[in-house]
Formats: sequence, C-alpha cells, structure tokens
Amino acid sequence: MRPAELIEAKRDGHEHSAAEITDFVLAYARDEVPDYQMAVWCMAVYFKGLTGAETFALTDAMIRSGDTLNLGAALGRRVVDKHSTGGVGDKTSIAVGPIVAACGVPFGKMSGRGLGHTGGTLDKLESIPGFRVELTIEEFIAQVKKIGLAIVGQSADLVPADKKLYALRDVTATVDIMPLIASSIMSKKLAAGAEAIVLDVKVGDGAFMKTREEARILAEQMIDLGHRAGREVVCLLTDMDQPLGAAVGNALEIREAVATIRGDGPKDFTELVLDASSRLIALSDLGIDLAEGRCRTEQAIADGSAFAAYERWVRAQGGDPSVEALPVAPVVRQVLAPRAGTVERLGALAMGIAALELGAGRRTKTDTIDHAVGVVCHAKRGDHVAAGQALAEIHAADDRSAAAAADAVLTAYKIGDNEPRKHDILLDVIT
Ligand code: URA
Repeated sequence: MRPAELIEAKRDGHEHSAAEITDFVLAYARDEVPDYQMAVWCMAVYFKGLTGAETFALTDAMIRSGDTLNLGAALGRRVVDKHSTGGVGDKTSIAVGPIVAACGVPFGKMSGRGLGHTGGTLDKLESIPGFRVELTIEEFIAQVKKIGLAIVGQSADLVPADKKLYALRDVTATVDIMPLIASSIMSKKLAAGAEAIVLDVKVGDGAFMKTREEARILAEQMIDLGHRAGREVVCLLTDMDQPLGAAVGNALEIREAVATIRGDGPKDFTELVLDASSRLIALSDLGIDLAEGRCRTEQAIADGSAFAAYERWVRAQGGDPSVEALPVAPVVRQVLAPRAGTVERLGALAMGIAALELGAGRRTKTDTIDHAVGVVCHAKRGDHVAAGQALAEIHAADDRSAAAAADAVLTAYKIGDNEPRKHDILLDVIT
C-alpha cells in the first residue's frame, strides 16, 4: 500500500495489517517516506487510534529498524530492566541500580536525557566528575558481567526509527498519543533484551499523564505490548503532582540518591526505590517473592553493600563516587514561608520549570546544563510550616537567577489552612 493510501485508511478509521505498518515504518527509517507523510499518519492515529495488534506491529517494526541486544544470553542470566515515563526529581534508577546489583541481580540499563521540565538520568550521572555515559555495546556488556551494573546512553544502533519518529512527533504536536508513547517506550525496552520490566508511569501535573485514568490506559497498553513479545511487565503508577523526594537538579539529585542508598533518603523517594528494587529482584532469576525481595533490598541498604555497589559502578564508568567531588553552586538562597499553615500543594511542573530556568535542564537539545544548580524542597505536600520557615533552598549560578527562581518556587507552593488529600507515592500497581 502506498503511504498516501495508508494515511487515507487510518483517516477513515480502518485497521492496518502488520505488514502494512512494517513496510511503512521501515521505509520511513530508510528515508523513503518523507516526514510530512509520517506526521500526517501520526495525526490520523491521534484521531482514530491503533488497535493492540497495530500498536504491536508498530513496536515490532521500530525494533526491526535497528540492532537488538541479547544481554541475557551474554550474561547467561535473566535480565530485568526498569523505565520511568519521566518527572521532576526522578533519580530512581540511580538508587535502584546499585541496590539491585548488590542483591546479585545484573542491571544494565540504557537511559535518556532530559528535555523541558523533566530531568534525564544521563544528565544527572554526568554531574559526577569523570563519569562516562557513552560506552560501546561491548564495554556495556563487559561492565555488567564484571560488576553487575551499568547505566549508559541509548545506543544509536537500537531502534533508530524511534529516534527519528520521536524528533518528528516533538515538532508536530503528536507526542501525547497513547499508542505512540507505548510503542516508543516499549520498543526501546524490548530491543535492549530485558525479559522482565518494571515500568514507573508518573501521574500528575509534572508528568505526561495528568490523570490516573490516562496513566492506567498507557500502562495497560505497555503491558499488552510486553506480553505480546513474551516479556513480563509490572507497571507502577506513581505520584508526580509534587517533585519526587526533595532535590530537583542534577548534582543535588545524585547527592539525594546516594543518601537514599545509605539509608538516609526522603520518605517518598525511599519508598519508591525500595518498591521498584524489590519488584525487580522478585522478577529476576533469584527465585524469590516480593516480600523476600523487600527484605533483601532493605538489607542491602542497611549493611552498606548497596553503597559499595554504587562506588564500584561509578568508578567503573570513570567517575569519582565521593559526594564531595560533586559540583556546588556559588549562590545558595532560602525561600521562606510567607505565612504559617499547611502545604496544600507543591506543583511539580512549576518546580521543574524553576530548576530549568536556573540552568538544570535544557530548552533545546543543544543547550548546555549547569549540573550544580537546582532546588531542594524542604517542605512537601501536607507539611505544617511556620511563618518564615525555609520552604526550599535554591542553588544558583548567580544572584539574579536565584532571585528569579525564588519567585517561581514561591508560586509553586500553596500554603493554606486545609489538609490536602493524603496519598502515597505508589498510587497503583498493574500487572
Ligand atoms: N518517552 C519515550 O521514550 N517516548 C515517548 O513517546 C514518550 C516518552
């Protein structure tokens, strides 16, 4: 079928065959279908949707556009992986990796960079002096074999069609389309070879998915794709209505991840890290259940083996694991509560944008990041504060940006007399 006929069929609400989707996507990857036809097809998908079979065919075609990695065969182990749909203050993989590795489960992960108000794991890791995120596939496998842990940038050879398609979607208002998000995420996870995957779908104003309902639909589509590919998938729906943990900003988040691995992290972040780590271990080839997984993750933190795994990992990728080596911002300024009351709201999106404006993120792919800057939220939703108490701490490059961020941070807080509705970091688990 010619691309114009395929577009017409989708526009009119017809279902494509797997072969039609495969031909179309692979031709696009080979530059034989122009961007404008792919963009229009994506928009037709926005209005007419894709069936489960079509979404799987799209995912499979994207995987077939490049190489695949069989980490499990290289290690002779069942490989587990995790992915987050992205949020503010999300440094989960940096704490989960060492805990899982300390429990004897190999963890080799390909991560992305941040864009807009959400941070990326690679940017956070690059705040560690010397840390290399660009390993070859051979170096990546060798490191996971040797020390049980590696987190690297997505290989250009894996799912090149997604790279091209995502860049196109980004500029054609076709990012927030559920089956396209599901296939984009799952194609990368499936191509990297994990047999069991824990997906952290963020819900709230700082996330892609604003409501639990939307998040649940995305989760179900990703689980379906995993099952069609013969993989086990567990989906956590987690709160992104406020930043995760306290720190937002690259080096600040590394400090917080290290504190958490050492048993001294913020409550919400610690809970998510323990839960995700336990589930990964329970899905691994250790043959243990979730309760035993939880015991082992807590033990790895308590006995220092998780921190030892962190140190080994960072050194293996060329970095200096001591927190004293992390960059420090020259200006640190407190944001004080203008009145006494309860934190009714702490907007994740507003806080993410405040950190972005400080230089912690990039507006365009070519912007450079200031790894030292960001915000530490001392008060979170539901906390009672006195007038003049420090709500947050700004880490800035200069006084001018600190002052601008102070205004932005203050507007992210709503302090009133009402108790906000309580909910845990973990909103739901879908299997
Ligand atoms: N993350 C991805 O990798 N792809 C999307 O489409 C959206 C979020």
